[in-house]
Amino acid sequence: MTREGQHSAIHRADYTAPAFWIDTVELCFDLDPAKTRVLNKMRLRRNADVPAQPLRLDGEELNLARVLVNGQGASFKMDGNQLVLENLPAAEDGAFDLEIFTTCCPAKNTKLMGLYVSNDSFFTQCEAEGFRRITYFLDRPDVMASYTVTLRADKAKYPVLLSNGNLVEQGTLDDGRHFAKWVDPFKKPSYLFALVAGQLVGREQRITARNGREHLLQVFVRPGDLDKTEHAMNSLMASVAWDEARFGLPLDLERFMIVATSDFNMGAMENKGLNIFNTKYVLANQATATDTDYSNIESVVGHEYFHNWTGNRVTCRDWFQLSLKEGLTVFRDQEFSQDLCREPSARAVKRIEDVRVLRTAQFPEDAGPMAHPVRPDSYIEINNFYTVTIYEKGAEVVRMMQTLVGREGFAKGMTLYFERFDGQAVTCDDFAQAIADANPDSDLARLLPQFKRWYSQAGTPRVHASGSFDAAARTYTLTLGQSCAPTPGQAVKEPFVIPVSLGLVGADGRELALRTMDGNTVPSPYTFVMTQASETLTFVDIDAEPVPSILRGFSAPVVLEFDYSDEQLLTLLANDIDPFNRWEAGQRLAVRSALKAIAAVADPAPLQPLNTAYIDAMRSVLRHPTLDAAFKELVLTLPSETYIAEQLDVVDPQRIHAVREAMRGQLAVALTDDWAWAFDAHADNGAYQPDPLSSGRRALAGMALTHLCLAARTTGDVVWPGKAYQRFKDAGNMTDRFNALAALVASDHALAAQALPRFHAMFKDEALVLDKWFALQAGAPDRAGNILPAVRQLMKHPDFNLRNPNRARSVIFSYCSANPGAFHRPDAAGYVFWSDRVIELDGINPQVAARLARALDRWKKLTEPYRSAAREALVRVAAKADLSNDVREVVTRALA
Ligand code: ARG
Ligand code: ZN
Repeated sequence: MTREGQHSAIHRADYTAPAFWIDTVELCFDLDPAKTRVLNKMRLRRNADVPAQPLRLDGEELNLARVLVNGQGASFKMDGNQLVLENLPAAEDGAFDLEIFTTCCPAKNTKLMGLYVSNDSFFTQCEAEGFRRITYFLDRPDVMASYTVTLRADKAKYPVLLSNGNLVEQGTLDDGRHFAKWVDPFKKPSYLFALVAGQLVGREQRITARNGREHLLQVFVRPGDLDKTEHAMNSLMASVAWDEARFGLPLDLERFMIVATSDFNMGAMENKGLNIFNTKYVLANQATATDTDYSNIESVVGHEYFHNWTGNRVTCRDWFQLSLKEGLTVFRDQEFSQDLCREPSARAVKRIEDVRVLRTAQFPEDAGPMAHPVRPDSYIEINNFYTVTIYEKGAEVVRMMQTLVGREGFAKGMTLYFERFDGQAVTCDDFAQAIADANPDSDLARLLPQFKRWYSQAGTPRVHASGSFDAAARTYTLTLGQSCAPTPGQAVKEPFVIPVSLGLVGADGRELALRTMDGNTVPSPYTFVMTQASETLTFVDIDAEPVPSILRGFSAPVVLEFDYSDEQLLTLLANDIDPFNRWEAGQRLAVRSALKAIAAVADPAPLQPLNTAYIDAMRSVLRHPTLDAAFKELVLTLPSETYIAEQLDVVDPQRIHAVREAMRGQLAVALTDDWAWAFDAHADNGAYQPDPLSSGRRALAGMALTHLCLAARTTGDVVWPGKAYQRFKDAGNMTDRFNALAALVASDHALAAQALPRFHAMFKDEALVLDKWFALQAGAPDRAGNILPAVRQLMKHPDFNLRNPNRARSVIFSYCSANPGAFHRPDAAGYVFWSDRVIELDGINPQVAARLARALDRWKKLTEPYRSAAREALVRVAAKADLSNDVREVVTRALA
């Protein structure tokens, strides 16, 4: 530490075991928003394995009142934020009691880390380093202790008092106060501690596990929200059942609680037995939540529940190992959502959606200034490393392990992992070793050291593939090469282990049998495991040049380069048995048209970027008799502006936006009759059910309506915008209502100006719906430079509140991070707005500010005048004297 609060980088290589262990903690809280008193009684013990040294406890923004060692007043000193105790008494076993009394002010805690107040209730968030804002502690994940927690508070204001584990005692106290005492039967690191106190109501469900054990599941919300908890509870029950069925992992607690709060920095938190959630990932009914909300709730409820084993029973040794729990748990929640799909096509849709997130968010991160390995080597602020790389790329790394050892082999590996490490704090190496050791004959075991480069090397590898057909020999040879560009601090990359799932498609569209040189037939798809910079494989008995379908199911997180002709891509789009590559063929064709139009000399960009073959292919998909609606919707969605930008060395955001809008307009007009058919065929879906099949139908109907309203801009049609308005008014569920509203907003139709205030009036008391209302306007296509002024207006709206992260995100992030065509203004006003908001938010909530700061990650790729203006905005933020570590780390890396 250089000066108070200012940290320098922390390095993974510097890890040392803690000098002390904490065996037990007894916490006693007197909860009061202005001044909460915390009495912390610990039993500590020297770690005999490390040299004797003073005890250093972490603490932040605490008022220290008293320190007692073995019941006696003790001398201590402060070193920055640490409380240092020297000359501790050496009992036989090196153990002693330490009692610390502090106070803190939850009402003023706008960082939402530690103990804070939201809507008059108390909540905690301790991961990664929030517990030190509650009491002095060894706030690191490898110190695991047994917790006993007593909560005392005013009974009328805080009738519900919750903490981890089991409720062992409760009762009333003097002055209208009451108390509750909780004991957690499991040892845990401090980041998994939680308490909640407030006026909450719970939905309850009793379940019996396979082994006959009974459990109580509870979902706590504010009183008016009880009618929005059914889906979260169903998702929780499904999660419990799935983890038992797929991995043999049972619920290990008598009681499992979820509590929702509307003030939360992230999505949710897996505190042992007491998960705390952003309301966004709990509350849903058909009137207020969309299909996307429903499916997000299912994933996040699953994710946090699955952490109970992958994260809590086995936790991380240090924060560099974060992906040990996050990558693995994202993989598990992805598998859970897929396994809940009854139709195979719905599984494929989920896979495509997951890959789309990876490629539009993680690939740019891995190519930008914040690029870091799945297991980073250093950080300044750990909160900046809750990234798509740790989560989504980490999940892909686990998925590749499963591909290399098979689904059963992977389950065996998980079993071994828990046999070895239950109750411990371990590393990514320990996990990979367990999966490999459980599968000694697998490619993973054979290649483990090389495979682990996925943990140590940052950057997205590129696979360069080419094919050659030898008509005389009737062979087809694929040459596969790999490379990976340098990332900050890593100039040279060694080859990765890349499982490439592939098949060959005949020119007539049929799947070909695969025979290798030795005459063996191999199953198709075949997984070829790349390990070298370049290698070849040859298939025999091939009569005509095939179309290779490479990287099926997106078998590795890489960029695949293959010089497909348009005809070959159209063949794959029409015929590939692999739904992922079928979708991917359409995306490649669209990217190709976009890049051509962007590069064209014409100024402004050509208005008709798409060729007839592409449009006809899209019509065939849209009208296809057997493909399901959700898949059609994905194929017909053009690659995002962000994804297109990643394919370019120099980025002109306005030109990309103009080209993509032109493409959308072209699809809208050319397919008008088909969209009309699609709308009519998918608009009515009976009683609302958020299942994949009917939500796919709603998505396609919504997409059709958007295109019909867009086409109306050109044709002057008034019927479809009128129908959209009607649907907006009459819809029986939020998905249809919001899609209709979005169609009017996206086409900038006059009716949008009527629908928007109406929507606000309808949902003025529904915070999550208002977030959608704000986000829709801040994310609307910018046709006349009017979005930034609209965003400024929205920030003056009485319902806007910068302190509420969901609301701040709905306006500011929707504009700066999700609306490139409006944000990248030639007059730089978007960037000035951004720098003002980063600075303003940093004074309130550094974590949220640092997320926003990342909106300019890719500034170096921008063309002028954007590049200089973006740099100036970054410099402006960096010049602020008292920036948080969070924001400072992000802008320093961006400018480096
Ligand atoms: N472990 C949580 C999850 O992924 C995320 C908590 C992150 N919190 C933070 N302050 N960085 O489920
Ligand atoms: Zn997680």
